[in-house]
This record gives sequence, structure tokens and C-alpha cells, in this order.
Amino acid sequence: MIKLEKIRVLFNQGTALEKMVLNNVSLAIEEGEVVTVIGGNGAGKSTLLNVLTGDIRPSYGKVFFENINVTDWSAEKRASMVARVFQDPLVGTCGNLTVEENLALAFYRGKNLGLRFALSPNNRKIFHEFLEKLNLGLEARLKDPIGLLSGGQRQAISLIMAVLSPMKILVLDEHTAALDPRTAAFIIQLTCNIILEKNLTVLMVTHSMRQALEVGNRTLMLTEGEVVFDANGKEHSKLTEDDLLKLFKEVVDKKGEEDEILLNP
Ligand SMILES: Nc1ncnc2c1ncn2[C@@H]1O[C@H](COP(=O)(O)OP(=O)(O)OP(=O)(O)O)[C@@H](O)[C@H]1O
Ligand SMILES: [Mg+2]
Repeated sequence: MIKLEKIRVLFNQGTALEKMVLNNVSLAIEEGEVVTVIGGNGAGKSTLLNVLTGDIRPSYGKVFFENINVTDWSAEKRASMVARVFQDPLVGTCGNLTVEENLALAFYRGKNLGLRFALSPNNRKIFHEFLEKLNLGLEARLKDPIGLLSGGQRQAISLIMAVLSPMKILVLDEHTAALDPRTAAFIIQLTCNIILEKNLTVLMVTHSMRQALEVGNRTLMLTEGEVVFDANGKEHSKLTEDDLLKLFKEVVDKKGEEDEILLNP
């Protein structure tokens, strides 16, 4: 289980540019829950994921994984528990290394072993089998630099890499946003299969209301660093894309009214 306790993230704390990006966010996420996170640009979604992965340390509050307080753990130390896929397929992989070298690095994430060791014949066989399952013909490209692959091919490998070594929590930050609709649909299907097969706990940021409803069994909406909507169970299964769009509009309108009051008190 993941627990966030009164998380606050302040950037440029103590300066004139101080900005509260997460404001008292408390969340309990059960094992196996697939939480989709929606919200406007700058709402704090990526920051929330960064707090989970350990890439950002909260200014206040605590993070627990399975009742262990990991707030002070670095991203490297959390890597055996949490893995992520980024929006940009270039970010999660190393373009100069071959496909198999990238997979080998992911296979031994968090362990201090040489690439030569990780590229044993047995591991090569495992990588081959993994790629074969994707049905993209990538098993024939194990020795190609990964930089030569298309964004979609690279994102499929990023997903495989994220779940190659043991982990329980998968964090996806708009991981299909840079892909064409057909490739995005393929990556979403692959994501769903992996989540199910490995029984992962997931936080997935998306700007697609349809993805939020189809992939998640719980949906959160963030606005200005606060969770303004959180639905799971029956409430979630009844939600429609229109409901979420309406919610978005309501939040934007409310924000407009508040800004108006601030400007013309
Ligand atoms: N390192 C930083 N220093 C200062 N401000 C930051 C930093 N990182 C993010 N921010 C600000 O924090 C706010 C939230 O950013 P975040 O990236 O979490 O938004 P988001 O909800 O993921 O938006 P998007 O949908 O555009 O990806 C934004 O106003 C952003 O400019
Ligand atoms: Mg973001």
C-alpha cells in the first residue's frame, strides 16, 4: 500500500518566487489499485509522481510504501519498489546503447553489476522472449542502438524495461502523449496486460478522459496542487467522459471566479 501523508511541495522556498505546487495531499492507495490522475497543465501531477519515485523530496509530509517510511529514501533506493515510464520515449532509454544493453541495465536496476555479466546467453534469451511477445518484430533488433527505433517501439521497450526487475509500483506520466493514436492504443493495451499479469499498483497521469476511465479503477483530479476529485468502486464505474469534462469545466470556472475576486475584491 502507498500512503501519502499531508504532502506539501514548495519550490523556491523562502524566496519571492516561492510556489506551493502540492498542498496538503493525503492519499491511501491499496495494493493493485490502478489510479489515473487527471488535471490541467501545471496542476502538480508530475510533481506528485516525482514525490512517489523519490525524484522530489516533499517540503513537508511523509511517504510510506507498505508501512515503511520512505520519505528520506533516494530515487535509487526506491528503484526496487517503484518504476516509471516518461512521456518522452527518449527519456527512459539510453539512445547510444543497443536494445539489449538497455534491457540488461533495466534487468539489473539498482544492482552494481557490469553490462557484460547482464548480457549472459541466458539473459539474452529472456530478452528475446520478452520482445517476441510484443509482436513488433523487435526481437530481430536487439543489437541495434535503441536510438534508431521509432517513438512507439521505444515506448514499448520502456514499458518492458520498467517491469523487468522486481517492482510493485508502476508510475506512468502521460506515457502515450507523444504517440500517434494507433500506437497509443497499442501501448495502452500493453500497459493493461502488464498491470494485470504482474498485479501492479499504478499511478498513471493522462490528459485523455477515456484512458482515465478505461485503464483506471480509481480516478483523481488535481487542481493547483490539491486533490479536488477522487472516485473509485461503483462511483468510478458509472463515470462517463462527459462527467469528467464537466468536472474540468466546473473547476476552471470556479478558478476564474476566484481570480476575479482576487483582482477585483
Ligand atoms: N523545479 C521546479 N521549480 C519551480 N517550479 C516548478 C518546478 N517543477 C515544476 N514546477 C512548477 O510546478 C507546477 C506543477 O508542475 P507539474 O509538472 O507537476 O504539473 P503537471 O500537472 O504535471 O502539468 P502538465 O500537465 O503540463 O504536465 C507548475 O507550475 C510548474 O511550473
Ligand atoms: Mg506533467
